[in-house]
Amino acid sequence: MPDNHSGVDGAQVLADLSALRAIGAYKTGVHKPTFSEPHIRSLQWLAQRLPEAGLTAEIDGIGNVLGTSDKPGPKLLAGSHLESQNYAGWLDGPLGVVYALEAARVINSDRNAHGMIEVAAWCDEEGHFGSFLGSRSYVGGVTDAEIDAARDRSSGKSMRDALREAGLAGRARVACERGRHLGYLEAHIEQGERLEGSGLKIGVVTSIVGIWQYRIAFTGEQNHAGTTRMAVRRDAGLALARFCVDIDDRFPAHCGPRTVWTTGRITLDPGAPSIIPGAAEMLFQIRDDDAEVIARLEDLLRSMAADISARGRCTVAVERIRTGAPALMDASIQTAVEAASAAFAGGKSIRMPSGAGHDAQVLATVMPSGMLFVPSIGGISHHWTENTADADIVTGAEVFVDACRRLLKGHSVFERSGRRFA
Ligand code: GLV
Ligand code: MN
Ligand code: MN
Repeated sequence: MPDNHSGVDGAQVLADLSALRAIGAYKTGVHKPTFSEPHIRSLQWLAQRLPEAGLTAEIDGIGNVLGTSDKPGPKLLAGSHLESQNYAGWLDGPLGVVYALEAARVINSDRNAHGMIEVAAWCDEEGHFGSFLGSRSYVGGVTDAEIDAARDRSSGKSMRDALREAGLAGRARVACERGRHLGYLEAHIEQGERLEGSGLKIGVVTSIVGIWQYRIAFTGEQNHAGTTRMAVRRDAGLALARFCVDIDDRFPAHCGPRTVWTTGRITLDPGAPSIIPGAAEMLFQIRDDDAEVIARLEDLLRSMAADISARGRCTVAVERIRTGAPALMDASIQTAVEAASAAFAGGKSIRMPSGAGHDAQVLATVMPSGMLFVPSIGGISHHWTENTADADIVTGAEVFVDACRRLLKGHSVFERSGRRFA
């Protein structure tokens, strides 16, 4: 392959992404929660395409799609995810899966390539049922008991029921074979405005944030909203609202330069205008690329909760429900992505951390892992208007495939410079 030609079929990449967008379309985005009918159809769509890339497809017992080959030789694993947040964008996940598929189509059919690409679509990166369940299962981090306990955060449906309805109950879960892959590469939309704002085409990811999530439950006393004097109320909703404001007042003195925190859902029980809420709950998330910073903020959260409980009107319980460790991306993968950007994106790349969580942070616990970003229009994501210019999608695919080639070609250097994994 000449140096100025990646072999990528840009029209095919765009057509594949459009095909996935048509499954579960919502306005200009998609609604594909984990194990919904459109999500399962998307998994099947991928499984049907993988043989075009010389790979044998399997959908395993947790909903991961794996495209693998028995052929000997160096192998690089590439992928992302196919489910979406509710009523969200079309590229968050599918972009990386389609790039991986295209890399496999191009490289696995090239007799001069220095190895093969295997493809993965990790189930439930978006956390409908838990935290990185698909990729964590692959690296050996999910017990059957965790699956037994997992429930869809929107509908409450158990994961076992969802797996049964999807026809996946009783299937084995595929586990990572240590040493099988040189490393893992994932492409994703940036989901922020840094690339677009600077006229850049590629983000070379240096690290991925850790995400810790909490259920914070307030218990007061349910009572009549007309006859209960303000002085004697034990209003759990009001306690929750005050707590949110307190967090914003107190966290800045203890956080790092890039820490972010979000209250994503508030529920009042019973949630009626004539009833003082006796219970309230908030789902709360903290992100940082330093786990110590998150741990420090969790301590603060717990001590704030204890203070409120000690005052006696309402009690507050803080339960940690999700942790995703921060991860450093492999140095030689960053170098390869940067070199590919010089060849196919006019060098318009920048090294940057990821504020979003990605399966690459889980894969990084067992093999050298890296990521590249393409620009997001207006920095919008987790919303159905999420988009990337077609030309940027194609450029990203070229950089991705070229980076894969470089990693396969230089694999001895790559193995030496990457972390050693048992
Ligand atoms: C992943 O989608 C995240 O919320 O970071
Ligand atoms: Mn994603
Ligand atoms: Mn997402």
